[in-house]
Amino acid sequence: MQWFYIFGIISAVNAGREAYERLGYFWHITDLHYDGHVIFHGDARKGCWRPDYDGIKGKGARRPMGRFGDYSCDSTWELIESAAQLMTTRHYDNVEFVLWTGDGMFHSARRLPETRQMELLQNLTDLLGKTFKSQFVFPALGHDDPFSREELAKMWSRWLPTDSLKTFKTGGYYIFERKMLKLQIVVLNTNLMKRSDTDPEANQQWVWLKNVLDKFRRNGETVYLVGHVPPGSNERQRGAASIPSHFSYVDHHNRKYLEIVKNFSSIIAGQFFGHLHSDTFRVIYNNNGKPISWAMVSPSVTPRRTNDGPNNPGLRLYKFDKDTGQVYDYTQFYLDLSVANANENRLAEWSVEYNFSTYYSINEISAGSLHALADKFTQDNPYGNSVFNKYYRANSVRFNTNPSTGCDATCAHTHFCTITRVDYDQFQQCMQTAPSALSASRSFVSRPLAILILSVSVVINSLV
Ligand SMILES: *[C@@H]1O[C@H](CO)[C@@H](O)[C@H](O)[C@H]1NC(C)=O
Ligand SMILES: *[C@@H]1O[C@H](CO)[C@@H](O)[C@H](O)[C@H]1NC(C)=O
Ligand SMILES: *[C@@H]1O[C@H](CO)[C@@H](O)[C@H](O)[C@H]1NC(C)=O
Repeated sequence: MQWFYIFGIISAVNAGREAYERLGYFWHITDLHYDGHVIFHGDARKGCWRPDYDGIKGKGARRPMGRFGDYSCDSTWELIESAAQLMTTRHYDNVEFVLWTGDGMFHSARRLPETRQMELLQNLTDLLGKTFKSQFVFPALGHDDPFSREELAKMWSRWLPTDSLKTFKTGGYYIFERKMLKLQIVVLNTNLMKRSDTDPEANQQWVWLKNVLDKFRRNGETVYLVGHVPPGSNERQRGAASIPSHFSYVDHHNRKYLEIVKNFSSIIAGQFFGHLHSDTFRVIYNNNGKPISWAMVSPSVTPRRTNDGPNNPGLRLYKFDKDTGQVYDYTQFYLDLSVANANENRLAEWSVEYNFSTYYSINEISAGSLHALADKFTQDNPYGNSVFNKYYRANSVRFNTNPSTGCDATCAHTHFCTITRVDYDQFQQCMQTAPSALSASRSFVSRPLAILILSVSVVINSLV
């Protein structure tokens, strides 16, 4: 009896140690959108989108851009360097790799000559190479990256082996095979998901993906699916009328993606995307409505205002099982841009925005736990310290801190539908269903009060 007990302790300790030894970290960085105007034209504000946006429109009020950037502009070099600096300070020796999910260039860089575009990417690549001397960086193509896959393949040959470069050159996608480890990395070219149903390159990617997943499943391996644009819709859209313009992939490719995820959910240990510049996630269900897979969407490094508003710069560090890929937790880092710019002479101080597990009181990242989290968005009192409030604050990396001034019941319902209905038909059905639970709990804030809050903030804004 006693021996049995001791044996139990020893094996528990061993299991604990094994799990500890398998614990690792990886960074996910995305949408750097490096603005080279200051280098190319000596004027940082030229590349900014609607530079008078923050001023009073029509009066041409322009503010000088802060050292670390501006909510109307893409990333300055100082901002990107400060992000790289942060990444050298956390769990550096235990960082296994870096996912870099595209959009390296600023938003209007397409107009530049190809050599200039390559220069932007080369400098980002060099910086990441210097930052991660012994780790691999896995880049995924975004739409704001240079077109020439040949040139990019040359640049990224420091990280990608010959086999990966081969498919990257032909289609912009690749796998990175990790020897002796279960977890394999599959990087998609989501630019192809915008193409027509019959596009040969797009269909070639599906054939390839199914083949590699079949192979990994046969070998008892697991995968991360990594790409720039997530499937499904943009959660920050407003109202039902604007729905189709917020779909990311064309319907055919969105369906195809979902079908593949459903068929291979047993080996998919995670899906990682960027593009939306927001902090959000997606849950994918099987045909019986059971949650079977999840996708995380990380916020951008660029703070630049999109149609859905600006965000603070963000970077994410995942904690995972190096072998199986099981994700345990992540830490979301951020830079409060206004604070950083106010201290012009100091280094930008990135800080922990939140740790997933403590923030949401969830001790594992799984389809089931994320489904339960999204479900709370519809049940909670949305104001005060609710789960939706927390999610909403994180969604813009703390640019918007309070849903009561920016996110009404319809907005909250849109978040819920986007997260839980990646399929477009199901999403539209969800949007047409009244957010009854939400509107019931929200009715205590009357419209006049909301308008009052809004007008007070307008007055305050025009004073500063
Ligand atoms: C890229 O790096 C080179 C070498 O440091 C520098 O001369 C050049 O100005 C940089 N270009 C951009 C766009 O950052
Ligand atoms: C998914 O599985 C179903 C049923 O086994 C099969 O008919 C379908 O072709 C598969 N699709 C893909 C893309 O693997
Ligand atoms: C959050 O994660 C970071 C990075 O792993 C760690 O340093 C910190 O102690 C964690 N904080 C909490 C409250 O768990």
